[in-house]
Amino acid sequence: MLKDGYGRAVDYLRVSVTQRCNFRCQYCMPDKPFSWLPEENLLSFEDMFLFIRAAIDEGITKIRITGGEPLLRADLDKFIYMIHSYKNDIDLSLTTNGYLLPKTAKRLKEAGLKRLNVSLDSLKPKTAQKIAQKDILKDVLKGIDKALEAGLKVKINMVPLKGINDDEIVDILDFCKERGIEVRFIEYMENKVAKEQISGLFGKEILSKVKEKYIITKIGREGSSPSFSYLTNDGYKFGLIDPHKHDFCESCNRIRLSAEGFLIPCLYFDEALSIKDAVQKGDIEAAVSILKDVLRNKPEKNRWQEDEGGEISSRAFYETGG
Ligand code: 5AD
Ligand code: SF4
Repeated sequence: MLKDGYGRAVDYLRVSVTQRCNFRCQYCMPDKPFSWLPEENLLSFEDMFLFIRAAIDEGITKIRITGGEPLLRADLDKFIYMIHSYKNDIDLSLTTNGYLLPKTAKRLKEAGLKRLNVSLDSLKPKTAQKIAQKDILKDVLKGIDKALEAGLKVKINMVPLKGINDDEIVDILDFCKERGIEVRFIEYMENKVAKEQISGLFGKEILSKVKEKYIITKIGREGSSPSFSYLTNDGYKFGLIDPHKHDFCESCNRIRLSAEGFLIPCLYFDEALSIKDAVQKGDIEAAVSILKDVLRNKPEKNRWQEDEGGEISSRAFYETGG
């Protein structure tokens, strides 16, 4: 089993397959980057898989594919199939903005994908357009339907932003409840790439909006999940991801691989080491040793928890997939 320098077990790998996106969400990449990394900088799926196989052998049991928008990368279903065929009980999931799901959901399921998380920040076409800077809502809603039809387990991510979509917290919760899918509200994580004018809601502010309609009780964290679960008085379970809370990082079990081959120990910090040369030479031992180095130096906690006046993270989410 893999452990980090603080003794936390690490069994979860998030793999970003591209930085590119077809949206420009205000909290992620509103205007930067101006251009995308050249394709040749990307680690090929074959090289990524060499690393993933070794990581699975070292004890990784959960893999999530992220981006940018992962469905923009050609042959993603083949990559999923490679991982699935190596170990079919890997908890294999995907985070997507949903826009391309109408065309891809069925193929993803057939390739071995089990679950996916779709971002849904608004049910109003204009607000959704304001956040993503593109008219997206119809396709995303259709994508969610197609994923459910294909038999994929779906969760919804919503990032509430002050004065933009914070009036829709209950509506999104009800939308998910009606479909029997779980919603997770995510605190906006400040970063230097996001639009300066936006601000998020703290977890307790999000919960107080839910409390305008429901009585809620705490359930707790499920395993090492960053999401804290709550139950409404009519029996619906939803989650809250609150990285500003002081105990958020205690059970962190994850490591991230970027599309260019950097291993990133923490979403907040810029530190990362590349496994690209090692895997391209076929030197898997060297790649595993880099993985262990990165884990040894994984930070204890993020700095979103330090109230106002703390530094703003310069790590862009489109590199790490959240
Ligand atoms: N703060 C919080 N969540 C974010 N995401 C992207 N950027 C941010 C941010 N700055 C979320 C998106 C998506 C997931 C990949 O990460 O909502 O669901
Ligand atoms: Fe694209 Fe997701 Fe970033 Fe939005 S949050 S711009 S959908 S990568």
